[in-house]
Amino acid sequence: MTESRIQELGKIAAELRDFKESPLYEYRIENDYLPVIGSGDPNAAIMFIGEAPGENEAESGQPFVGAAGRVLDELLASIGLKRENVYITNIVKDRPPKNRDPRPVEVELYAPFLERQIAIIQPEVIATLGRFSMEFVLDLLKMPQLGQKIGDLHGQQLEGAAGYGKVTVVPLYHPASGFYNRSLRAAMEEDVLALKPFVK
Ligand code: URA
Repeated sequence: MTESRIQELGKIAAELRDFKESPLYEYRIENDYLPVIGSGDPNAAIMFIGEAPGENEAESGQPFVGAAGRVLDELLASIGLKRENVYITNIVKDRPPKNRDPRPVEVELYAPFLERQIAIIQPEVIATLGRFSMEFVLDLLKMPQLGQKIGDLHGQQLEGAAGYGKVTVVPLYHPASGFYNRSLRAAMEEDVLALKPFVK
């Protein structure tokens, strides 16, 4: 089981490394960046989904390794987790120039890779990081909460259905939002507790 998951994820990685169809491919090569495929345990019960890699991520090939990543690590630690215990990825796997929002055509191109990652890992819970990722996942799973604001949905356990079975969606604020806004940071610390029932 684990072996085939690793192999399947490896295939995705190989396809993404050679993903010349992406408008972000050239920018990656010009800057000597790496695609950021995902990291962590292929058998994880908890999957985190962010938006797109930033500079630190594109330089290292790892998701959430910059300042936002440190916030994520602290949130994980607060419920007794390390990043090796979960799976972390993004919707878009290459860095958009100057960290601009990914364009709809880019999201469309990269979405099938994320859908395959979800189908391989079969998480019990998907924690979305930020509004963008929340909307993507609510749309993907055709959930009735699509269209509601993150300010209303953050920290809730929303019951959804994926191809492989039941999945809970927990919308979280993006870890970068916690830098300057102390009340958001407090909300994030409380919201992450919604993941505790899934900690084995
Ligand atoms: N922000 C994201 O959404 N993803 C990362 O990997 C890093 C920062």
